[in-house]
Amino acid sequence: MNIAVITGASSGLGKVITEEIHNFFVFDEVWIISRSEEKLKKVNCKFKTKIILLDLQIYENLLNFKNLLKEENPNISLLINCAGYGKFGSYNAVNLDSSLGMIDLNCRALTAVTEICIPYMKNNSQILQVCSVASFIPLPKLNIYSASKAFVFNYSLALRNELKPKGIYVSVICPNWIDTEFLSVAENTATPKAIKSYMFKKSPEFIANKALIGLKKKKHLILPSAFCKVFFVLSRILPKPLLIKLWLTNTNKD
Ligand SMILES: NC(=O)c1ccc[n+]([C@@H]2O[C@H](COP(=O)([O-])OP(=O)(O)OC[C@H]3O[C@@H](n4cnc5c(N)ncnc54)[C@H](OP(=O)(O)O)[C@@H]3O)[C@@H](O)[C@H]2O)c1
Repeated sequence: MNIAVITGASSGLGKVITEEIHNFFVFDEVWIISRSEEKLKKVNCKFKTKIILLDLQIYENLLNFKNLLKEENPNISLLINCAGYGKFGSYNAVNLDSSLGMIDLNCRALTAVTEICIPYMKNNSQILQVCSVASFIPLPKLNIYSASKAFVFNYSLALRNELKPKGIYVSVICPNWIDTEFLSVAENTATPKAIKSYMFKKSPEFIANKALIGLKKKKHLILPSAFCKVFFVLSRILPKPLLIKLWLTNTNKD
């Protein structure tokens, strides 16, 4: 059985990718993962779907997923790690649960799901890690989120190199702001207006299309808009303190 596994498929970018994936790939089944059964049931995937309810922040659930794969022994031809969240505000505006939760979901769960899936992947299979432009520089008022995405960026591109001899291709997508529930989740802190504006925001449909085109081309780094491309280049040539100063002009004082 040839399957795709998609985490964070219940809303935003993961949902749109799941609904558009038939335009680019063919699977016997798509396994969609999140915490909300109601939302997953509303995902309109053209392939047969298997709903897997998991809070990926809980280690026991990751082991349950590992056991499920052992029982069903599928061939995973595509893994998309899309589940993730951020929180806006300085260190003292975001509570400890949320701070550690970001690390648990964005880094720990992404690593676990990736490592658990790799033994079920054959030659020509693919992994898409959903990262962010926030990974390019340290971002005050998004400190843990930007650090967690820097982890995803480096981990995934190093893994691409390690998996190349097996014919498994890892791609990383780094979007800027996307118009999804991510933003309301991120604003739900002690300083909800920490970020002034979401400049160059794109729709999840736009980013999903770029993600799927990039995946089809087996690109290592998918920069899905002109802003992402320019910011990536600037982050490699300009001093980080200058870029951080520029970023801070788009944030409010605590
Ligand atoms: N929106 C942006 O501005 C933006 C920009 C750059 C990168 N990104 C990245 O894009 C990815 C998708 O985000 P989005 O914008 O589509 O946001 P979203 O609409 O909030 O989607 C987040 C997804 O993650 C799932 N999720 C959250 N916590 C989970 C948990 N503990 N266990 C399992 N699943 C969980 C959610 O499902 P349930 O709530 O049903 O569990 C949902 O399906 C994230 O990795 C995010 O960091 C977003």
